[in-house]
Amino acid sequence: MYTNILTENKDNTCIITINRPDKLNALNHETIQEIGKAVAVAEKDNSVYGIIITGSGPKAFVAGADISEFSKYTVEEGKKLSADGQKVFKSIELCTKPVIAAVNGFALGGGCELAMSCHLRIASDNAKFGQPEVKLGLIPGYAGTQRLVQLIGKGKAMELLMTADMIGAGEAFTLGLVNYVTSPGDLMIKTFEILNKIYANGPRAVTGIINCVDAYFQDGVDGSAFEVEEFGNCFGTDGFTEGVDAFLSKRKANFR
Ligand code: COA
Repeated sequence: MYTNILTENKDNTCIITINRPDKLNALNHETIQEIGKAVAVAEKDNSVYGIIITGSGPKAFVAGADISEFSKYTVEEGKKLSADGQKVFKSIELCTKPVIAAVNGFALGGGCELAMSCHLRIASDNAKFGQPEVKLGLIPGYAGTQRLVQLIGKGKAMELLMTADMIGAGEAFTLGLVNYVTSPGDLMIKTFEILNKIYANGPRAVTGIINCVDAYFQDGVDGSAFEVEEFGNCFGTDGFTEGVDAFLSKRKANFR
């Protein structure tokens, strides 16, 4: 079904693995489109509660956009490459189910941007993050200039974007770029542990959280007004009925 990615549904979770290990999982146009399609399919699948995005092989999550593909691009082609990629990454950010990047090695350029478009990031201790585009005379094109600022603040983002410095998982954790650091062997265990905590909560409420937090960053959207709507809408859901009934009956809620 796909050429450059693998998908597997396991424990109510769709695992999307970028599978070009000989190219350190570099993102060519086809791979980005396949990721977008796989996310859309998982979002519609009622048996899937959440999504993990990871890379194939021990070395890389994604080592960036595929440099060989765009080496001869014109200005117009460059703009299209950026716009097409941003559209897919936005669909990940706005996915109504939780999406976690399990970062298992290099997350550079488009790889760091892909991880940042996910809702959470768990990294193995061999992961390395960076936006090295300036070394190629480029800037990030998949909203890396925007999401890095959102995640780690302007000063440090400016530094990483302008120097092209690579940082290890420990520093990424200190900066708030990743939520947890594990050994490579524990990466998926920790990722599922977080997802299972989320799955134990009201699914519509989890979607409400994603929508409201994203609203904070959207131009022209009053996030607080958005929250009023989302909060109110929770009252009409089965999840609310179940969550409150479980609390009042002193039992564990069963949302699924
Ligand atoms: N695009 C296309 N191919 C890439 C790639 C990318 N972003 N990153 C790695 N590859 C390819 C290499 O060309 C090489 O292919 P080859 O074996 O056919 O020559 C293969 O992946 C392995 O990479 P290599 O450079 O040999 O591994 P390394 O361990 O010596 O170095 C990196 C690893 C990540 C430091 C290095 O590959 C790198 O700097 N990649 C580019 C990172 C980048 O600039 N990303 C932003 C792009 S906009």
